[in-house]
Amino acid sequence: MSSIKSVSTESRVFEPPAEFAAKAKIGSREAYDKLYAQSIEDPDAFWAERAEELHWFTKPTTISQWDPPFAKWFLGGTTNLAYNCLDRHVLAGNGDRTALIFEGEPGDTRTLTYAELLAEVCKLSNGLLDSGVKKGDRVIIYMGMVPEAAIAMLACARIGAIHSVIFGGFAAEAVRDRVLDAGATTILTQDGAWRRGKVVPLKAQVDQACESCPGVVRTIVLRRTNNDITMKEGRDLEWAAVLDGASAEHEAPALDAEHPLFILYTSGTTGKPKGVLHTTGGYMVYAHTTTKYVFDMRPDDVYWCTADVGWVTGHSYIVYGPLANGTQVLMYEGAPNHPGPDRFWEMIAKHKVTIFYTAPTAIRAFIKWGDEHVTKHDLSSLRLLGTVGEPINPEAWIWYRDMIGGGRCPIVDTWWQTETGGIMMTPIPGAVAAKPGSCTLPFFGISPKVLRDDGTEADTNEGGYLVIDKPWPAMMRTIWGDDQRFKETYFSRFEGKYFTGDGARYDEDGYFWVMGRVDDVVNVAGHRLGTAELESCLVAHEAVAEAAVVARPDELKGQALVAFVTLKSSAKPSPELNAALSEQVAREIGKFARPDSIRFADALPKTRSGKIMRRLLRELAAGQTPTGDVTTLEDISVLASLRSDES
Ligand code: WTA
Repeated sequence: MSSIKSVSTESRVFEPPAEFAAKAKIGSREAYDKLYAQSIEDPDAFWAERAEELHWFTKPTTISQWDPPFAKWFLGGTTNLAYNCLDRHVLAGNGDRTALIFEGEPGDTRTLTYAELLAEVCKLSNGLLDSGVKKGDRVIIYMGMVPEAAIAMLACARIGAIHSVIFGGFAAEAVRDRVLDAGATTILTQDGAWRRGKVVPLKAQVDQACESCPGVVRTIVLRRTNNDITMKEGRDLEWAAVLDGASAEHEAPALDAEHPLFILYTSGTTGKPKGVLHTTGGYMVYAHTTTKYVFDMRPDDVYWCTADVGWVTGHSYIVYGPLANGTQVLMYEGAPNHPGPDRFWEMIAKHKVTIFYTAPTAIRAFIKWGDEHVTKHDLSSLRLLGTVGEPINPEAWIWYRDMIGGGRCPIVDTWWQTETGGIMMTPIPGAVAAKPGSCTLPFFGISPKVLRDDGTEADTNEGGYLVIDKPWPAMMRTIWGDDQRFKETYFSRFEGKYFTGDGARYDEDGYFWVMGRVDDVVNVAGHRLGTAELESCLVAHEAVAEAAVVARPDELKGQALVAFVTLKSSAKPSPELNAALSEQVAREIGKFARPDSIRFADALPKTRSGKIMRRLLRELAAGQTPTGDVTTLEDISVLASLRSDES
């Protein structure tokens, strides 16, 4: 099989609202086309100009160097990302502007201006240096969503320590693996984090991880939940003690553009996690530029991205991109349904949020919880919506637009990856018309291609492998400590081109439709189908909240389809519904794609970042007991209940 068959038939088009376009930084399709053409014809000139918008201690002498698979950007330049996010605004006279608005899960709030945030970052920078942390050291940040997590990232970036944020939902063994792989010396953590009114005991997990991590010589512990913890003499320091007496002034050092900035681990479906390495200059320029244009960002926006700082979205679009743009960033500590399912909408109304960026998995949960939680709040402050993380099914897209955006806000469906560092494909909101379920067109400087198995380019509407065939500033530099694996994973499938691992097609307008991970492709009756489209068809049924489709081996057909379906709270499983769903797939896609079995479930197994773990479902569908790594699973009980459902 050379390509992946696309069965999606979505054809609605939504032009940028005129009122939005009139004020937008890029306000017409012509303006986008012109800038995109420039960025592809002369990328060095384009990126040199973008780099000029930021501060460099020494200007770069060479803009890019591409020796596949290794890229370098802004060679010879020195800069400091924290300086660009903080000092630059303060020196420009904007120190009194709001930088961070924090809301804790219990309802406590705290606001930091740019000047205050700078002072906090300087204090921690001095504290880290005094405790013995040096430039180039690896520092783990294993915290909840508190301002100190952002302060910790910025302080590391400032002194040139390489941070690796580990999502606070991970347990001790996941922490241990990452600490060991990174060779970290220092862990910044907290006693506990709030989640649905309960304490997640972070420090206790660190203690357990450290039993097998002799390289960790210090931990610095923030008090947040005041649960009992043990402090190990000679290793564990109180956060407050580290800051005590630390000066609020610190001169940001000039760091080489290619100085490592952070390592972020992505869990592949199998094998040990990959430490994706990003470096300073290219990442900075890309995060700044994408944030500016994709979110059309202004200093008076109140911007809320609901991701966790433990994911790349939290790095690029909670901390670095928005702060580099000098905007007001809302940061929320807890769960979306605590104390009630309207927490997010209540917060949007309270803080007058203007830009809201979340994930399809969250949107589907909101739909499931019911519209009444949304409609009781005033969401009229919103002007722009975004999604990231998975293909969004058109039904969820329309609901998001109508129910949350009041029909007036453009939606940016942003496709990108931990590896890409920043948004790669997205509508520019004032310029590019949206189609529900499509991430539309490439960002400036990005050259996506869809290839067949043999490396030739797929035709219009022919699904294939999504690659990027030109380097861009924020591309990952390597897998930490493993250049060989970097090359094999990303650059060997198609020689010299970055392989994303995703399947995609582009339509007659050149719009890209991502069909999900190629590992998830199923082969039915000789057709290779992306599961995302099958799932989207099921979710289009009014009773369905979420669906995951996997294949199991079948003696006759080779593969048979199994659909796992969760229903909206208003619906109940029944043989009639089962038949109706099967009929819907037959009608919309074709009889060949009819699932052999539809299984109703209360919930689907997901990673902690909300992606459905199809690998586990494949094993269940094949009647096996899930093996392999389940440490990234969000809620292990989901697996148990799915198994007991087997009949
Ligand atoms: C998927 C998250 C379709 C895709 C920033 C990608 C998407 C993987 C989209 C990366 C989107 C992300 N449309 N699919 N808008 N955004 N994906 O590393 O499969 O957590 O390869 O980065 O998520 O996930 P990661």
